[in-house]
Amino acid sequence: IPVENFDLVIFGATGDLARRKILPGLFRRYCAGQIPEGSQIIGAARSDEGDEGFRKTVAEAIREFGSGSHCEDGTLDQFLECIHYERVDAMGEAGWQELKGRLRDNVIKAFYFSVAPSLFGALAERLRSFGLADDDSRVVVEKPFGHNLETARALNQTLAQHFDEHQIYRIDHYLGKETVQNLMAVRFGNMLFEPLWNAQYVDHIQITVAETVDVGGRGGYYDKSGAMRDMVQNHLMQLLCLIAMEPPARFEPDAVRDEKLKVIRALDPVDYHHIVRGQYGADENQPGYRAHVEDPRSRTESFVALKCHISNWRWAGTPFYLRTGKKLKARTSEIAVVFKDAPHSIFGTDAGQHRNVLVIRLQPNEGMTLDVTIKEPGPGGMRLLDVPLDMSFAEALGAEADEVPDAYERLIMDVIRGNQTLFMRGDEVEAAWAWTDPIIEGWQNRGEVPKPYEPGSSGPEDALMLMHRDGRKWREIK
Ligand code: BG6
Repeated sequence: IPVENFDLVIFGATGDLARRKILPGLFRRYCAGQIPEGSQIIGAARSDEGDEGFRKTVAEAIREFGSGSHCEDGTLDQFLECIHYERVDAMGEAGWQELKGRLRDNVIKAFYFSVAPSLFGALAERLRSFGLADDDSRVVVEKPFGHNLETARALNQTLAQHFDEHQIYRIDHYLGKETVQNLMAVRFGNMLFEPLWNAQYVDHIQITVAETVDVGGRGGYYDKSGAMRDMVQNHLMQLLCLIAMEPPARFEPDAVRDEKLKVIRALDPVDYHHIVRGQYGADENQPGYRAHVEDPRSRTESFVALKCHISNWRWAGTPFYLRTGKKLKARTSEIAVVFKDAPHSIFGTDAGQHRNVLVIRLQPNEGMTLDVTIKEPGPGGMRLLDVPLDMSFAEALGAEADEVPDAYERLIMDVIRGNQTLFMRGDEVEAAWAWTDPIIEGWQNRGEVPKPYEPGSSGPEDALMLMHRDGRKWREIK
């Protein structure tokens, strides 16, 4: 279904995010027929590209990161007609009147801040003072949304001086992932799971976001953030919220975000014995973390594993284990809901302990598996075996799976539709920082050095111990 006609201005249009995600994503939506003729996508940045120069940049980005099949059949040329460029000085006066001249009345206007957060205030102020934005315009902001509670609060206040909360779209691209939304469909669209979704039946929950990439070219940014700020405060926290929240009354922005906020506020502070931070070290063949950043003695973590608790009726006593890291064994993101043992085994102790595990795989091979216990086939008596009921979305949905938009595509279209359900509200972001800050401050105060781990491993040994001590174990990263 096409969205309404719109003018989208992308500040920082020549940057990496625009090239890799935003522009190719818009092209794919164009190919899918969602972007109406006449809509304008206007790049804005400091360099002097001109319309033609920018169109060339866009075409190259799409060829490199976009959907190749439509590049040669004329669709790309048509798409490029929507593309314009204006040179704008974010901190000065230059270019703003000209940019305003390009915008049309009576269409949806959205402004994407794909720039450093230090520019958010200047951009927001100029959008208002030069009269580009009205009370229906939308602004889209990227992470990092603040560096801690104080800076996040300041950013919220700055944006609030110029825009109402219903106009602000804070992106966490994990919320745009298909399986993440599926998580809500699974929980709230089926009768099967929700009655069991609580401390009485769930032993624990594991959330893993493992990456094989190193910090490579992003060392400058990453070394000031670390895995806690870069991944846990936002992406893992959002997954935790969706897994743990109460059913919202409706699938509407504030109903969903109210429930997520309650989860974050119910999180207990984390005991520092329950957190392991790691940093990938050098081995003979590959440089370690410190070779990717400026500071040769950096103590920034590239891995975090932690155990936390949600103090409410539903979850009291059920631990949530979270882990994420770079340069690990495999690229896997999954959520595993591990159910408790059956209260009594009628098959005797020889049959072994068996558990149901529901795994929601975000990537790769998006899908779900449910481990169920069955009888081992054959004449050998009643021996039990866990087998997965496996559902790969790609297989189940066939060709339709190829149509699934990537996270950015979906989120940008939601901005134009004016649907904030998959965007973070200001109070959510602040609550997440309020939980994360003491953990990071604790590391600093104790002068804690991250534990080294081998590139290509599952993280530091201590992370395994975090679970072993509780008589549990992590699922294998594979
Ligand atoms: C980003 C982080 O937000 O998410 C990166 O800054 C990380 O460090 C990336 O690599 C992971 O996203 P995805 O979609 O590849 O899992």
